[in-house]
Parts: sequence; C-alpha cells; structure tokens
Amino acid sequence: MKLLIRNGTVVRSDGQVKSDVFTEDGIIRKIGPHLNEAADRVIDASGCYVFAGFIDTHTHLDLELTTTTTADDFESGTRAAVVGGTTTILDFATQDRGMTMQDALEKWHRKADGKSSCNYGFHLAVSEWNEARKAEIDAMIAQGVTSFKMYMVYPAMRVDDGKIYDAIRYCAERDCIVGVHCENFDLLNARIDELHAMGRFDPMAHAESRPDVVEAAGVSALMRTAELADAPAWVVHLSCEASLDEVEAARGRGVEVYVETCPQYLVLDKALYNEPDAEKFIMSPPLRLEHDRKALLTALGEGAIDFIGTDHCSFTMAQKALGHGDFAAVPNGGAGIQNRAELVYTYAVQAGYLTLEQMAALLSENAAKIFGMYPQKGVLREGSDADIAIFDPNDPHTISYRTNLHACDNSPYEGIAVLGRTRDVILNGELVVQDGTLIQPHCGRYVFRQPSGRTRK
Ligand code: URP
Ligand code: ZN
Ligand code: ZN
Repeated sequence: MKLLIRNGTVVRSDGQVKSDVFTEDGIIRKIGPHLNEAADRVIDASGCYVFAGFIDTHTHLDLELTTTTTADDFESGTRAAVVGGTTTILDFATQDRGMTMQDALEKWHRKADGKSSCNYGFHLAVSEWNEARKAEIDAMIAQGVTSFKMYMVYPAMRVDDGKIYDAIRYCAERDCIVGVHCENFDLLNARIDELHAMGRFDPMAHAESRPDVVEAAGVSALMRTAELADAPAWVVHLSCEASLDEVEAARGRGVEVYVETCPQYLVLDKALYNEPDAEKFIMSPPLRLEHDRKALLTALGEGAIDFIGTDHCSFTMAQKALGHGDFAAVPNGGAGIQNRAELVYTYAVQAGYLTLEQMAALLSENAAKIFGMYPQKGVLREGSDADIAIFDPNDPHTISYRTNLHACDNSPYEGIAVLGRTRDVILNGELVVQDGTLIQPHCGRYVFRQPSGRTRK
C-alpha cells in the first residue's frame, strides 16, 4: 500500500512545516513539499496537523479486579483509542499473586492478539517481588517487555518500599524502568477509617481519604528509594502540585525521575464528587483543585512532566454501583482513551500552556524514547513506522459517551467542549480511520520494545 498525505502541517517536537508525507508498505519513505509519488490513496490534509501517531502510556483493558472486570476489553478499548488518534497503547499486563510473569504476559497476549484496532505493547504490573519473579525479568525483556509497574496501594497488588528498592535497581541494571502508583498506604487507610467513623461514605470522601499529601508522601518515598538505589523511577498518573514539589526536589538531588500525568488531572475538578453521578469520577489519585491543574499545565510547558497517558480503566454505572453507599468499595477508574489528544489540544495548547511541538513530544515522542520504541514510533521521519494521526484543529464538538466508542455508559468528560478532533489515522501504513470513522478494525500489532531510552540519564 502506497499512501500520500498532502498539504498538511507536519508537527514534530523540533518544529512544524507544511509538508507532504509518502508512505509505502507501512514505512514513511519521504517527507517534503509537493511530493508527486504515485500512490494507491491520496489524503488531503489541508488545514490539519499531521502528527506521529499518539502513544497512550497507561491503559487497563480487560483487567479483572476482585469484584468486577473493566468494561472495555481490547476490542472496544482499542477502537476508541485509534479513533482518538492513538496508534499505540501500553497496557498493564497484570501478574496476580501466585501467577508467573510469563502467565500474565501470555494471558494479555490472548486478550489482545487479533482483537486490537491499534498497536499495543505491555508493561508488566507485578504484585510480588521475590527471587522467582526476579528470575523472569530477562525473559520479559526477551519478549519485548521493558517496563514494569508496582503499586503502593490496593491490598491485592501492593508491594513495600524494600521490594520497590530492589526492583528498580535490578531493572535499571537492564535499562528497564519501573513505574510506581504512589500513595501512602497507611495514611490512606487511616483516612478511610476516620471518614467511615464520621459517617462519611459519600464520593467526596474518596477525595478526602487520599488528599494531595497522601500522594506526595508516596512520591517522596519513591524519590528517596530511587536515590538510594541510584536508579530511575517513573511516577505514574501524578495528579497534584505537592507531588510535583517532591519530584523537583529529588531532581535537584540528581534523581532520574520520569513523570506521567493524565488529562483528568488537567481538566476536571474535585467539586465533581458532589454531582449525582459522582461515582464515575472515583479514580485514584482523585480529582484535585485548580491550583493543581495550573501547576501541572505549567510543569508540562516547562518540560518537568514527560508524557501524558489516560489511565483508561472504565466501568459502567452499574459496575460503579457495586460500591454504592461506600466510596471505598467503588471500582476505581474512568474512561478516557479516546479523548486525550483533543483535550490536550484544547486545554493545554489552545489555553497557551503548550506549543504544538510540545504536544507532539508529550503525546508520542517522549514515550517512544522512554519506552524503547524510538525512532520506529513517536516521530515522523523517513524510515519510521507509518503510524500517523491527522488532527483537524477546527472541529469543535462536545464529548459524550454516546459518541465515544468505548463500551461503558459514562465518560468523566461528558459535556466537555473541545475545539478539534483526530480526523484520519494511518496505522502500519493503512488508512484505518477516515473522517472520524473506523473503517478497518483489528489492524493492531504487538509492539516488541527495546530497553528504555532513559532520556534524563
Ligand atoms: O483509579 C485508577 N487509577 N484505576 C486504575 C488502576 C490504577 O491505579 O492505575
Ligand atoms: Zn495507579
Ligand atoms: Zn492505572
């Protein structure tokens, strides 16, 4: 398949230029003005931005919790992803206790292979760290898994700081990176008990049980752990100013820290926990305040945050209602896989916090480098994979779960206005989304990743 994209503005982290793009057999062959290569298909991208396909660093598809399984699996989740311009997701293959990493990886391949409409790689989320699990790391790397995740909270998954210390050091020796869900477990449980004792079971109490300092205490511990281990650390879904302060202080001491944030922490407010459908906003970390959003947006502009993932972890309202009457029993997570680019464009670029070039870096290039996919992915240049998002900046619309392709009956962004939208998507050299419609599903491939690029080393 030969494809020619004409008249668009090619946006990369190092600049933007009006240019054509020619792809053949899944690879970008030429970028330049007025190309006249013979093509099977010509796409007119006039008035649009042409980005390297977006990479979502943080999704949970077909994830079984103790009470229920996420509403989106790889079938529905990746349809929504690709329509939103995301050509690669990194999903968390999850090793439950008593399971090997190999079992978890094979299980996630069964969930994803043949069902995915965007490309996909896996981080391995580990619930145990011992000699047996350690012995599996090299086998994971040999199968293209070069990033891992640990949780400080959730009783079924949490590991202690000593395990995190050993894991990040062991993985760093192999140029692999470990992401950590940072919240202080003991403080969180103390707050939940306090709130329950006060008769507080409402959704706002979710936010009050895990305020910014509970997250910052976790981040602080990770920063000191990484310092002691002399190893890099990745803070997943950082949500607040207090945590940014901990990161900045650690970087000042020479700690190599990678930071991810999510659109919900840039756009949505804690006050939403007072709404009648507040359970759909129950996620961890919880939504924060305006000063946190401003601090995150400013940090993005200053380069202090490395990438933006969605933490898509969707549940229907019926699933959320499993915990009705007690915030601590509501399944944690929300839907966002389709809306990341349009939210970042509207609320970060158009709001004046980011340039388009920074958007390209934060939604694609940085993640490709840090997670071992660069330069095949994350950049529009000759020789790179033809994964391309054509974004129309002049297509104002309102986000709704009714028009999103994800499988759940709610969206945290319901009713939010955005200014643009992904119009067309090229995946592995094929036009898979045309005028916002998925015309070729199931074209996603497994992405075998190299060790981390460690851009802050
Ligand atoms: O509430 C959330 N974020 N659920 C997904 C699991 C996690 O903590 O990343
Ligand atoms: Zn988490
Ligand atoms: Zn998550």
